[in-house]
Amino acid sequence: MDSADYRTTSCYPDGLAPTRRAFLASLATAAAAAGTSCSFDTETEMSSPGVTQLPSIPPGGFPIGSVQLNFNENPLGPSPRAIEAILDSGLVKANRYTYIDPLIEAIGRHIGMPAENVLVGCGSTEFLQFAPWAFLQDRGSMVVSDPTYGWTAGVAETMGRRVIRVPVDTQGVVDSQRMREAIRRGTRVVYLVNPNNPTGGSIPHEEVVSLVEALPSNAILMVDEAYNEFLPEAGRTLDLVRQGAPVLVLRTFSKVYGLAGLRLGFAIGPMSVLTQLRKVWWEDFGINTAAQIAGPAALGDQEHVRRYIELVDSGLIQLRSGLSDFGFAPFPHRAPFMMVDLGRTTDAIHRALYERNIFVQPGSKWGMPNFLRVSVGTAEDNAAFLNALQEMTV
Ligand SMILES: Cc1ncc(COP(=O)(O)O)c(C=O)c1O
Repeated sequence: MDSADYRTTSCYPDGLAPTRRAFLASLATAAAAAGTSCSFDTETEMSSPGVTQLPSIPPGGFPIGSVQLNFNENPLGPSPRAIEAILDSGLVKANRYTYIDPLIEAIGRHIGMPAENVLVGCGSTEFLQFAPWAFLQDRGSMVVSDPTYGWTAGVAETMGRRVIRVPVDTQGVVDSQRMREAIRRGTRVVYLVNPNNPTGGSIPHEEVVSLVEALPSNAILMVDEAYNEFLPEAGRTLDLVRQGAPVLVLRTFSKVYGLAGLRLGFAIGPMSVLTQLRKVWWEDFGINTAAQIAGPAALGDQEHVRRYIELVDSGLIQLRSGLSDFGFAPFPHRAPFMMVDLGRTTDAIHRALYERNIFVQPGSKWGMPNFLRVSVGTAEDNAAFLNALQEMTV
């Protein structure tokens, strides 16, 4: 979730509770003491000094007619089948806590894995939030690429754990060799986002395998596959899970399925990994009734997914050609967003676009001040962004 406000108040006590009940109690106490909810903005951790960051969501919400190219959302909307399923249900069971087994089984069938290898959560963020609690409980470091999606590293740091950041290469691709070299005896989590957000670069399956091989005992590779449908070898990390490798794969309904607002994600791992994660997992508490109904229906609508992938592929061509015509240097990757080097700091351009209700992300949020990150939208959205950028810069 890119939109949360960054709050500096620590949400977590350093000591971690060994049981779920104690864990939940400690969370409630910490939140009450802080007087705020827990929230890490994954996109605002590295603002340029002296630059006042604009809020991710304008006060009062996005104005009607906004061009929202800032959160990598699916502009086609939710799968109509998911909406129909919710409406047909009438949500008459919303007074009850959710029964999540059918959802887990539907996901298992869809990915070709036994249900026992699947956990569902309140977006994949639930797992990004709790993985450090599960795997860095006593001690240990996390290795991440830099930049990358910041949530889970933010939690680890708030817990007082060391996060080792490994720069991506000049094209924004995760440098798996340097990631391997950064792994220490005490490393417990290596976090890989593939394709990487915000840069869009991806690494091939054999490099993912090489990261697993470099893990010390008791460590896991957590592969965040929020955008896995855009990988040339989509789905191969599940083979590692099938082999029992210490891998935790995270997936989401927020992107290709267009259900970001319903909050539904899942984790896939071998029993050894899930046993640890279950200690802090929210079980059925993370899943709302509407999401539980929509999930299986959305999985059954692969046509909707296909339409979105096509939209992204043509949008990438449109954006890349427009940006290159203006003399800018977009990264060449396949993902539903793109980073582009404008050859000058982009904060003022970002602000000017914002004032015209065109919302993108400034690279300064990730220490890349000459870049903008733009999500792929509809052809009209992309054109609106390109036209405005041309007026401002060319
Ligand atoms: C790499 C990555 N992981 C996780 C998320 C959050 O996903 P969810 O909506 O499932 O919590 C995002 C959202 O932008 C993301 O880019």
